[in-house]
Amino acid sequence: MDKDNLKIRTLQDTDVEALLAFEVANRDWFECHIDARDSAFYSTQGVSDHIAHCLSGLAAGTWHPFIIEDASGTIIGRANLKDIDTRERSAQVGYRIAQQACGQGLATLAVRHLIQQAQMRWGLGQLLANVYAENIGSVKVLRRCGFVMARAGEDEAGRDDWYRLSI
Ligand SMILES: CC(C)(COP(=O)(O)OP(=O)(O)OC[C@H]1O[C@@H](n2cnc3c(N)ncnc32)[C@H](O)[C@@H]1OP(=O)(O)O)[C@@H](O)C(=O)NCCC(=O)NCCS
Repeated sequence: MDKDNLKIRTLQDTDVEALLAFEVANRDWFECHIDARDSAFYSTQGVSDHIAHCLSGLAAGTWHPFIIEDASGTIIGRANLKDIDTRERSAQVGYRIAQQACGQGLATLAVRHLIQQAQMRWGLGQLLANVYAENIGSVKVLRRCGFVMARAGEDEAGRDDWYRLSI
């Protein structure tokens, strides 16, 4: 993959078809690592509603959704600042990379982009991430970007850990 030709940009309302293709192609992969989406999501209407929801969050200043696309305009990853709280100067990060594009540093690139946007665009001082301990790749990305464990898991299996980065 030619990383110089990748683009990370804000999600747009014209991304419905490309985002649906990305989510459908990687559904099984994502569901191995993160909570499954409702099956109604996997349709033109479902993704269209999802994008509208993300963009209304952006307008309200609570959410900043990004997509990563390759040189051909295919979406190969997503990264989000979620639950942005400008008073607390805090937000949560989320990211997912197409299975075929994994292991090449894309999530690291995406999280670094989120950190930069959190600072420059939103003036935040802290980022949080919630991750299952067995998601070794994700934990590696977080640690590489400077996150440290803030709280060990409190879900029923005791597995969902919280990581924090002061910026
Ligand atoms: C987790 C995820 C985002 C990582 O994306 P990625 O683009 O492969 O991440 P990077 O290449 O930047 O870094 C991953 C690192 O973890 C390593 N890694 C991945 N899985 C691993 C495993 N099971 N054991 C050991 N190391 C592992 C990779 O080798 C890489 O390390 P390296 O750069 O030193 O070789 C991707 O696998 C994904 O989208 N998973 C499904 C959704 C998800 O889990 N999202 C995160 C929720 S918290």
